[in-house]
Amino acid sequence: MESISVGLLGLGTVGSGVVKIIEDHQDKLMHIVGCPVHIKKVAVQDKQKQRQVDVHPDRLTTNPADVIEDPEIDVIIEVMGGIERTKEYLFEALKRKKHVVTANKDLMAVYGTELLKTATENGCDLFYEASVAGGIPILRSLVDGLASDRITKMMGIVNGTTNFILTKMTKYNSAYEEVLKEAQALGYAEADPTADVEGLDAARKMAILARLGFSMEVDLEDVSVKGISSVTEEDINYSKRLGYTMKLIGIADRTDEKVEVSVQPTLLPDSHPLASVHDEFNAVYVYGEAVGETMFYGPGAGSLPTATAVVSDLVGVLKNMRLEVNGRSAVSPQFEKQIKTPEEIFAQYFLRIHVRDEVGAFSQITSLFSNRGVSFEKILQLPLKKDGLAEIVIVTHKGSKKDFQEILSQLSELSVVKEVKSTYRVEGNGLG
Ligand code: NAP
Ligand code: HSE
Repeated sequence: MESISVGLLGLGTVGSGVVKIIEDHQDKLMHIVGCPVHIKKVAVQDKQKQRQVDVHPDRLTTNPADVIEDPEIDVIIEVMGGIERTKEYLFEALKRKKHVVTANKDLMAVYGTELLKTATENGCDLFYEASVAGGIPILRSLVDGLASDRITKMMGIVNGTTNFILTKMTKYNSAYEEVLKEAQALGYAEADPTADVEGLDAARKMAILARLGFSMEVDLEDVSVKGISSVTEEDINYSKRLGYTMKLIGIADRTDEKVEVSVQPTLLPDSHPLASVHDEFNAVYVYGEAVGETMFYGPGAGSLPTATAVVSDLVGVLKNMRLEVNGRSAVSPQFEKQIKTPEEIFAQYFLRIHVRDEVGAFSQITSLFSNRGVSFEKILQLPLKKDGLAEIVIVTHKGSKKDFQEILSQLSELSVVKEVKSTYRVEGNGLG
């Protein structure tokens, strides 16, 4: 190979980082792949916009087809975002035998399987390391580093925006809306932060992790999702008082070959390794039967961290080009999809309940739990200063999600219960 021509779709936060890393690390890239790597064309929306990096105006186009259809371009790097239209661009690129590197988790969570199939059929690589946890090389760790093990559990802080918000609410009692604005200003949040705060961004990343970690087709619809928008200052304060830290946790858990994938605000014991992952940082905790506990930690977003993962994927493509083995690394799923039912998911739960402060109220509540064989690990009862109410905070021992759902519906029917204010999953006591 005399030189490699790359086409870039997008020159925003990540695209600018890609240009910078390819320029700054040209010597290292030359050393690894044996020839110069240069960016031939770049698709943007607005050619006049001021950029973080210098790209000659002749190389800019507002038409992605100019990049995809250029016969001299070997590899397409997609860092423009979007799902439906972007999917068509990438199918077209793969059909034209161009290798693809993408940072697009939204696209890979929904169309990853079809895109990977098309890549293999066309003898092309499709790599997407940057789509999960930005600069942390977690996908390669699952596929290569832990290839010989059987992974049974992954827990991830895979959304920087929500980790930033919960950290500030926990450490400084900051108000949710205020910190969300700060996260937007710092560029962590998506343009529309709903996907961040409602857990969808994390759910997309967990679907991708579960597919690779469990070698099973897991769709976005299989992930149960709850975001952080209803987390209150009171919930965070009770978590602290009981020795827990509130985090938005993605859980991918497998028992035999049945899996649960979910995202929800979760209470972790302060001693759990994920409890000390603060601010916008990400981490993925992986439990393998042979290796035991491992944790991968680092920046989950940002221009250069994310671009590092993108350009490392590019290096992977270029090494495969040299060895003429492109399109051979994707492995089809080993297992048929089996998703756990609520009867098969076991967890501890936190509940905060407002009750009428009258004789027998407490025993009516506890009997709902004991009737289903669910006992309590921790319990607090405090009088509220209004309306003759008391607040009860419970952390249960493990019970099935089904039992918990039924207890919740029975609680709301009790006349002594004014309101179930909040419920959270509790994880990390013992293994995982
Ligand atoms: P961004 O800053 O909004 O940049 C998007 C770029 O794509 C812009 O340069 C935009 O052009 C261009 N673009 C958008 N639609 C286009 C179209 N139809 N035709 C031509 N160009 C188009 O986004 P980003 O933060 O870099 O994110 C890019 C991708 O990486 C997304 O999939 C995101 O989820 C993923 N990702 C981002 C991060 C991060 O930290 N930002 C981390 C991990 C993954 P203009 O500049 O002219 O508007
Ligand atoms: N909005 C995402 C986050 C960016 O907050 O983690 C990285 O995917």
